[in-house]
Amino acid sequence: MRIAVYPGTFDPVTNGHMDIIERALKLFDRLYVVVGENPQKETTFSAEERVEMLKSALRKHNNKIVVEHFNGLLLEYVKKKKSNVIVRGLRAISDFEYEFQRAQFNREFEKGIETIFIMTKDDYAFLSSSIIKEIAMFHGSVKGFVPEVVEKKLKEKFKK
Ligand code: COA
Repeated sequence: MRIAVYPGTFDPVTNGHMDIIERALKLFDRLYVVVGENPQKETTFSAEERVEMLKSALRKHNNKIVVEHFNGLLLEYVKKKKSNVIVRGLRAISDFEYEFQRAQFNREFEKGIETIFIMTKDDYAFLSSSIIKEIAMFHGSVKGFVPEVVEKKLKEKFKK
């Protein structure tokens, strides 16, 4: 069984993340989508809300995907799930240095765990969770950039 872990802050999940997940599903039998904590980021949505949005958006893949929150070292989570692959999306050159550092770091600690990168679809190369929140905060439309459940949640969060 090929098992992979796709970690992120997912604050909130966007269609860019969804595209990476759909494509990773073609490569693996089981995908753990893990809502982790980046100590540098203060999130808008709670861990429970982030997990709920992902679960709802990924409902049709219930048999292959597990969505969970994990507050700890990513490598520990990957080992716990008996996986040896971390999936990350790459949007632009600007992502490269950051991702390169983290992948190298993780490999230094656990030689058996590899990070693989999936190139983000062109249509979503400019997307980020922050930009989505900024648009929603000023009541702009995020339709087509996030799953419907997220669109609804953003409207509630940033009510006029
Ligand atoms: N489409 C759209 N947006 C994308 C994207 C894609 N395909 N790929 C990345 N992004 C965006 C995200 O929306 C996010 O945007 P934001 O900064 O505006 O919020 C940004 O790229 C990157 O964030 P994310 O993918 O969520 O990762 P992260 O860098 O915040 O890391 C963890 C999150 C949980 C993976 C990381 O902090 C972690 O591993 N934490 C555990 C502690 C640990 O082990 N640390 C040591 C690591 S070496």
